[in-house]
Amino acid sequence: MTPTIRRIVPEDWARARDLRLAALADPAAAVAFLDTLEVASARPDEFWIDRTARASHGGEALQLLAEDGGVLVGTVTVLVQGAGSADYFGAIIPERRAILVGVYVEPAARGTGLIGELVERACAWSREQGLAALHLDVHADNPRARAAYERLGFRATGHVLETAAGHEVQMVRAL
Ligand SMILES: CC(C)(COP(=O)(O)OP(=O)(O)OC[C@H]1O[C@@H](n2cnc3c(N)ncnc32)[C@H](O)[C@@H]1OP(=O)(O)O)[C@@H](O)C(=O)NCCC(=O)NCCS
Repeated sequence: MTPTIRRIVPEDWARARDLRLAALADPAAAVAFLDTLEVASARPDEFWIDRTARASHGGEALQLLAEDGGVLVGTVTVLVQGAGSADYFGAIIPERRAILVGVYVEPAARGTGLIGELVERACAWSREQGLAALHLDVHADNPRARAAYERLGFRATGHVLETAAGHEVQMVRAL
């Protein structure tokens, strides 16, 4: 079956939480996500309800879900960050921008092109918000994700952040 891609709705919160916990249990999680399974598992329902609601409407956040036969098999999120706000690592963002985060495709759906469809939808939405580029940070030691992003048109900006978790390579795709 071909997965369908749609924006998250508030009623998805528990399934979206479970997908996130599956992502955080992935062997690549340490280089893929800033969050940990331990911390995320302890979050109350209100956290997931609020996060899902914010990504389900409006122009500040978009979470896309890929669903196959009633099962969630992938997700990406776009966050629109305002000029002057701080990014995850504390750096001030000079101008309003869109950043791709929370990228996950379940193992059985990898290598199928699904990540490309999710990214194209994320790019289209970002364009609709008036943005000219989509940014992301990828860990230097996550070669599969880096290869996928390169294939999908993202290019390294030349900025590499040194974080507690290692080196984060900044990439951007013009929209
Ligand atoms: C990152 C992710 C979404 C990519 O989706 P995917 O379906 O696996 O990606 P694809 O298979 O389309 O592309 C991966 C590419 O890396 C290649 N690859 C696989 N393993 C690799 C490795 N160890 N080193 C280098 N390249 C590798 C694949 O051959 C493929 O190459 P291609 O573009 O020439 O086809 C998915 O692997 C995933 O969810 N990983 C775990 C979470 C994660 O890392 N998220 C990203 C956080 S920034």
